[in-house]
Amino acid sequence: IYLGLDIGTSAVKAVLVDGTQRCLATASQDYAVDHPFPGWAEQHPDRWWQAVEEVMGRLRQQAAEALAGTVAIGLSGQMHGLVLQDEAGDALRPALLWNDSRAERECRLLDAELPRLGELTGVGPMPAFWPAKLRWLSGHEPDVLARTRYLLLPKDEVRWRMSGERVTDMCDAAGTQLLDQARRQWSEEVVAACGVDPAWLPRLVEGSEPAGRLHPELAQRWGLPEGVVIAGGAGDVAAGALGIGAIEDGSAFLTLGTSSQLFVSTPGYRPAPEHALHAFAHALPGRWFQMAALLNGASALSWVAGLMGVSIEGALARAEARGDAPESLLFLPYLNGERTPHDDPAARGVLFGLTPASDVGEVTRAVLSGVGYSLREAMEVIESAGTPVARLAAIGGGTRSDLWLQLLADILERPLVRYRDSETGPAFGAARLARLAVTGESPEAVCRVPEIDRVFTPSEPLGRHAASYARFLRLYRVLKPEFT
Ligand code: XUL
Repeated sequence: IYLGLDIGTSAVKAVLVDGTQRCLATASQDYAVDHPFPGWAEQHPDRWWQAVEEVMGRLRQQAAEALAGTVAIGLSGQMHGLVLQDEAGDALRPALLWNDSRAERECRLLDAELPRLGELTGVGPMPAFWPAKLRWLSGHEPDVLARTRYLLLPKDEVRWRMSGERVTDMCDAAGTQLLDQARRQWSEEVVAACGVDPAWLPRLVEGSEPAGRLHPELAQRWGLPEGVVIAGGAGDVAAGALGIGAIEDGSAFLTLGTSSQLFVSTPGYRPAPEHALHAFAHALPGRWFQMAALLNGASALSWVAGLMGVSIEGALARAEARGDAPESLLFLPYLNGERTPHDDPAARGVLFGLTPASDVGEVTRAVLSGVGYSLREAMEVIESAGTPVARLAAIGGGTRSDLWLQLLADILERPLVRYRDSETGPAFGAARLARLAVTGESPEAVCRVPEIDRVFTPSEPLGRHAASYARFLRLYRVLKPEFT
């Protein structure tokens, strides 16, 4: 039995998987993100830990016997978050999360000071990553930095509480922007430029390698056997990739969660930072991926449904009832600013073209299309960086909607595949890493592609969204100077 634990942005999710890769039990516990000031996004590590304890208690109630047979744990987690610990291992402040955009100004300085940053770390300076966050802290909270002795990513903070080990995996390390991606080791150049003492950094392992053992007292409390191995694990996007077997050269998928990504596995390190594309180490040795990271995904749909006072299902039904009525509204989905391709934390959402006849259905449809157009732009960026995308899988909560997936297939003009149980996500991929860490099996044998639920084929004739897409691109360009 393998346990996958995902330390997400909105919840901790756990899944217990048996030797035939069947899910035996799942549990999750939600929590909030704090936004003390506009653009800030923080969580205290205690919040993750309470949720882990909660989830483990629930798993024990549901599946005590299976839990007692666990041989390894895999961790996945929200990427890029920065936890600062003092000498005693206490968090010095709440973690700065991946969607925290306070360090925008610091990025411009980094651009000038570290021109090789993009080439070395696979992505240009952005507020999501540690160099910009650290620079902000040195300007605004120097006392915190002065007391800092250890830096950790969210899931690795949890690992430290579970095992006493300060370790991270290559993929999550990739997301700090301190990793030399090609060599899969901390970049001395970037680490030094950020004023980081190398002793502050966690030890690096591959995601499928063992990285410690669960503390005996936790094993007892949670009902696990003693000596359970904790695997390196992975950032949530790469763990999600493993969960659907996206490990071969060119396997591509998009995610529709709080954020949204377009991800393609690549056989080598292929940086293209000029379009805010991310080229990172994958969760398995000797593999990398290219990723467009979009800050706005299914969260745009839940936002607009909430605003209109309807349920998500209700909003989708109204959008569907419009049938093929022509699109007159355009939606720029940049509610949280945007990373790929604009690298524009100041960008904002726009609903353009409203009339007295605009209704719930039309607005919902515009939101679905707007996220689709931003994914289309992301796909074009990946293709222009030398990685063709022939077909894609789709994972995440948003994939429950057939309407949305068909619309995305039409906009992307690529077949879109939905798998059975596609919502299990990163926790399932983490459980696969746990298995790899203890069995020595080949990744291909373990990370199999799941059974297909449905393939959404682009409707003929192709190109029906071309004119709206072109307007979408123009609208952002015209409005860009107005976002401040
Ligand atoms: C990926 C990213 C998010 C976080 C949170 O680059 O920023 O997906 O990992 O899930």
